[in-house]
Amino acid sequence: MNSVLERIVQTQKVTDGSTTLPLRHPDFPQLAVAVDMPEGAFLQRLVNDVKPKISLEIGCAYGVSTLYICESLSRVSSGTRHIVIDPFQSSQWRGIGRKNVEDAGFGALVDFREDCRSISLSSTAGTHSTRYSSNSSSSTSFFALAASSRSTMPIVVR
Ligand SMILES: C[S@@+](CC[C@H](N)C(=O)[O-])C[C@H]1O[C@@H](n2cnc3c(N)ncnc32)[C@H](O)[C@@H]1O
Repeated sequence: MNSVLERIVQTQKVTDGSTTLPLRHPDFPQLAVAVDMPEGAFLQRLVNDVKPKISLEIGCAYGVSTLYICESLSRVSSGTRHIVIDPFQSSQWRGIGRKNVEDAGFGALVDFREDCRSISLSSTAGTHSTRYSSNSSSSTSFFALAASSRSTMPIVVR
């Protein structure tokens, strides 16, 4: 397991470099705010199975699911692009998710967007488009994979 992810899993804490925070929702501490290990393993199995050239994740928070996904993506194929959208990354999550991804060495793999309303996933299997509203502040988590050799696009919504 990547050392950044391992540290978060073991300590259940994250840091922006100066402040350490529990791996909980900042406004609702009773709520977990990341996938757990079985869910992370499920995401990794999906990546291993589909071997996507491009993937889309909506809702990054502290970056735990992104770390699971990137760890697997970096093993299965080269030249992949993982698009991550989170309009609240700098504000609510203090940029910690993005920092964790950089610290883990996955910065070049990830195309991070805080302001994005529509996205097109293009691959040799076709173009898949999805639209979503960035107006909602409700808890959103979404993961899509567009594979180079399949016409299907698995979608996980949590
Ligand atoms: C449960 S957290 C995601 C946890 C993360 N997937 C993980 O497992 O580590 C939900 C995330 O959705 C984001 N979010 C909420 N509304 C959104 C929207 N309209 N568009 C994109 N992201 C949104 C929040 O900022 C938060 O980062």
